[in-house]
Amino acid sequence: MTRGVATECVRHVATCLAPARSVSPMDNRPPPAKKFKSSLSLCGQKRENVFTHEREREMQQQRRELPICRARGQLITHLRQRETLILIGETGSGKTTQIPQYLYEAGIGRQGIIAITQPRRMAAISLAARVAEEKKTELGKLIGYTVRFEDLTSDQSKIKFLTDGMLLREAIGDPLLRRYSVVILDEAHERTVHTDILFGIVKAAQRKRKELHKLPLKVIVMSATMDVDLFSQYFNGAPVLYLEGRQHSIQIFYTKKPQSDYLHASLVSIFQIHQEAPPWHNILVFLTGQEEIESMSRTCREIAKHLPQGCAQMTVLPLYASLPHPQQLRIFQLGQKDCRKVILSTNIAETSVTIPGIKYVVDTGMVKAKRYTPESGLEVLAVQQVSKAQAWQRTGRAGREHAGICYRLYTEDEFEKFLNMTVPEIQRCNLATVMLHLLALRIPNILTFDFISKPSPDAMQAAIEQLELLGAVEHKESQIILTAMGKKMAAFPLEPRFSKTLLLSPEFHCAEEILTIVSLLSVDSVLYNPHVKQDEVHSVRKKFISSEGDHMTLLNIYQAFKNVGAHKEWYKENFVNGRNMTMASQVRRQLREICVKFGVRLESSRSDTGNIRRCLAHALFLNAAELQPDGTYATLDTRQHVAIHPSSVLFHCKPSYVLYNELLHTSKCYMRDLCVVDAEWLYEAAPEYFGRKLKGVKS
Ligand code: CDP
Ligand code: MG
Repeated sequence: MTRGVATECVRHVATCLAPARSVSPMDNRPPPAKKFKSSLSLCGQKRENVFTHEREREMQQQRRELPICRARGQLITHLRQRETLILIGETGSGKTTQIPQYLYEAGIGRQGIIAITQPRRMAAISLAARVAEEKKTELGKLIGYTVRFEDLTSDQSKIKFLTDGMLLREAIGDPLLRRYSVVILDEAHERTVHTDILFGIVKAAQRKRKELHKLPLKVIVMSATMDVDLFSQYFNGAPVLYLEGRQHSIQIFYTKKPQSDYLHASLVSIFQIHQEAPPWHNILVFLTGQEEIESMSRTCREIAKHLPQGCAQMTVLPLYASLPHPQQLRIFQLGQKDCRKVILSTNIAETSVTIPGIKYVVDTGMVKAKRYTPESGLEVLAVQQVSKAQAWQRTGRAGREHAGICYRLYTEDEFEKFLNMTVPEIQRCNLATVMLHLLALRIPNILTFDFISKPSPDAMQAAIEQLELLGAVEHKESQIILTAMGKKMAAFPLEPRFSKTLLLSPEFHCAEEILTIVSLLSVDSVLYNPHVKQDEVHSVRKKFISSEGDHMTLLNIYQAFKNVGAHKEWYKENFVNGRNMTMASQVRRQLREICVKFGVRLESSRSDTGNIRRCLAHALFLNAAELQPDGTYATLDTRQHVAIHPSSVLFHCKPSYVLYNELLHTSKCYMRDLCVVDAEWLYEAAPEYFGRKLKGVKS
């Protein structure tokens, strides 16, 4: 990689609210040195209710130093006066942790609960923990959180952090969101499907509550970077407030030439920095996914071993959602002064978590994200370019505590061609879940719902067809309505295909096994696959492997886990992610409760795995692929060429028909998490549909 000084970006340092589009004078005075303790260190852990004076003083000092603090008075005035407000402010300026507290302290919205939504559960939990600590209360009392399958709130909770998906579920029960006096939609720029629908829901709830003379609903939309015009227009010209954060200057370097191999380019950058910069300057590298990150970690460690004497030590730390919790925590621990930390992360470090001590950011400009084409009906995860907004967000990670440097592994020309904003997820995902939600919310006509960004009519149509195939909706007098099955499906916090699997399971006498499988597929992977120990992993996993595929293998692992119980040694020996396994077990308990509520007969099929796979075939038939004469696979719905992912236990097998959980596009289009099925089962699941799709099989 060549390195050339290109643009130097200096952000301003200001302390107060600015009216829309104002630019404040530059001020680069460094702030007083701050000591950060782990920002995530208490996430999900049982917390002691003991606050040392030192920790408390430090935290209060930190609070006072936040840029938002000096704008407190002005902010409260605006918050009190306005019904809807859009608030923009640098990451780290204090929006998420402080605004709910300001509202509460100023007595705004005391008649109800203040809700703050987050796109990710990890962020919701850690933020609630942080705010509870700042307010010196026990988590779950005044301040609580609700994420999927986990609710830590009580009757006393007045400030509640929750994932956007959870608030949406609550809206199904009460579209007016009557428990809430304020809804803060945070990280709005991420444009997750759930947040996008929530915009429409809260807007409607606000209007209706006004019409009905009920308690007004205050709506606050927050982000670091977003398309303010779009948001302001959508919320009937809501005012936009700019909170200018303390961001230290960040130098940005672009490559002189486009890089054909961003992994190689990152390696070169990491080691260039490593040889030149003092060892306490840590590096954060943005990559795209677990496998890539693990392999890059190995390469870095290998190279670091062979560096000339005198070179500083290097600790390489991967960071991705399914990484076991203790390993995630290592990232937040302060390192030693003579050893450089290199953190290789997915976009999880872009907004959700704050890592202390980062001086350098290396941005590959790539991200793994969903992409959907309604014509082919395919939703694939694929590596693609980030948007400018994401690139800025990544860059910002270098200037949190001191002046920083960001290496962008693309040219400035390439950057100029990036999309300004990330395409909203709603415009690039399968909409079956969304449509089911909207129907459950009793939206009169889902096709004309007030979306902030409308999905394509083709995508909406495709989703409705899928729901029809699953028996969730029907057409009645030119209206689309939920069937009895559809109503039940919407009650599960699951994708429609999985809730359908559960509801069908009594027919195949295997509800207990299906509960396990669906739970395992609903959490981050329970399999921990460190590459350095690949052979060892392979040999210990052998005992669990089922020739019938990954679902059955997971089932075997879960059954073994149940026999042993939560056991640290067992997790370690078997390369199982204990936290995710415990989570799966909790998820299972909750899904089981919903099943009981609906009177689903809970039986075990015991050793009859055929019945389990048949049940899966009856609900997941839209994700099926067929072996071709040339040994490749084609999906049954659109004949897309696909291959078995190397992580699957079926990688070296060639079953005639398989179901897959998801498609991942890297060098090829891969199917992940597979189950062997019979063509006849697919045919009996949806005879009309497969009459059109299946070549060889007719009943
Ligand atoms: O929302 P915004 O990015 O503006 O900032 P915030 O999340 O309110 O965080 C403000 C500050 O609180 C951060 O700069 C961290 O110093 C601290 N914080 C933390 O230490 N641990 C957390 N889990 C969250 C915030
Ligand atoms: Mg925030």
